[in-house]
Amino acid sequence: MHTPVPEYLQEVLDGLSGHVDGAVADYIPELAAADPDRFGIALMTTSGRVHAAGDADAEFSIQSVSKPFIYAAAIMDRGLPRVLRSVGVEPSGEAFDELSLEQGSHRPRNPMINAGAITAHQLLVGEGATSAQRTDRARAFLSVLADRELRIDEAVMQSELETADRNLALAHLLRNYGIFSTCAHEAVAGYTAQCSIMVTARDLAVMGACLANDGVQPHTGNRVVPSDVARQTLSVMAAAGMYDAAGTWFSEVGIPAKSGVSGGMLGVLPGQLGIGLFSPRLDEHGNSARGVEAFRRLSSDMNLHLM
Ligand code: DON
Repeated sequence: MHTPVPEYLQEVLDGLSGHVDGAVADYIPELAAADPDRFGIALMTTSGRVHAAGDADAEFSIQSVSKPFIYAAAIMDRGLPRVLRSVGVEPSGEAFDELSLEQGSHRPRNPMINAGAITAHQLLVGEGATSAQRTDRARAFLSVLADRELRIDEAVMQSELETADRNLALAHLLRNYGIFSTCAHEAVAGYTAQCSIMVTARDLAVMGACLANDGVQPHTGNRVVPSDVARQTLSVMAAAGMYDAAGTWFSEVGIPAKSGVSGGMLGVLPGQLGIGLFSPRLDEHGNSARGVEAFRRLSSDMNLHLM
């Protein structure tokens, strides 16, 4: 590839601007109001260079893209053995909002699906922490990774809480099985606040670059995630980040990735890059439709497939 990176990224966006398949998520009223044509992309190398194009600085709620980072924070706060007692590491092969519990242990199969992510949020800080402490830990940790102060959007959070019956049902069952002891409403409120943290595609590239850089923030040089935790997080993201499309995704694109229902996507290439993308129309798996196509192009043009 000989085109300079910023021009190349703009070419990728222009090439997909006519791709209008999919629809904006409408089960959360505030997300249904998103401009479907927004499209932004950013890359950050592990040496700290950032390249961006399109709506790379447009804010959106992080939603499920928060899940790998909060999994990392839970391991940092409680240790991997404790986290593994509550959440597994196997792909579920099911949609993100299915219960997908392991037989016998009743652990959610992984922390990328909603059941596993609601559980991971409850592990933050430590035994006996308050809901406010867990929420603040989530927001503060994502801010350290992004190297700027991130905020929770109250309107997105309230809007999602009004239609959170399915997550509440998951939380009631998880509590019933003894996976956590937080009451279901408090558990879902904390997880929903986590999902309502506002980021940009540029932020996601920076946050992803921390994981790509073995847990060291490329801008500040600070170690923000222990090396073994970064590896564990990326392993689970590679196996389950794209839900029931995870196997196809990894064989075809080969970049560990995580998507969210507001249209955000995170990609991480260990030792190389963090990739952030935003385009709100979703495919049938709940992944950004243009985002999936853009990642396919990046993988093929820049030879990014890990295998
Ligand atoms: O729990 C939910 O339904 C949303 N807050 C997040 C789901 C999500 O982003 C799934 N991603 N593709």
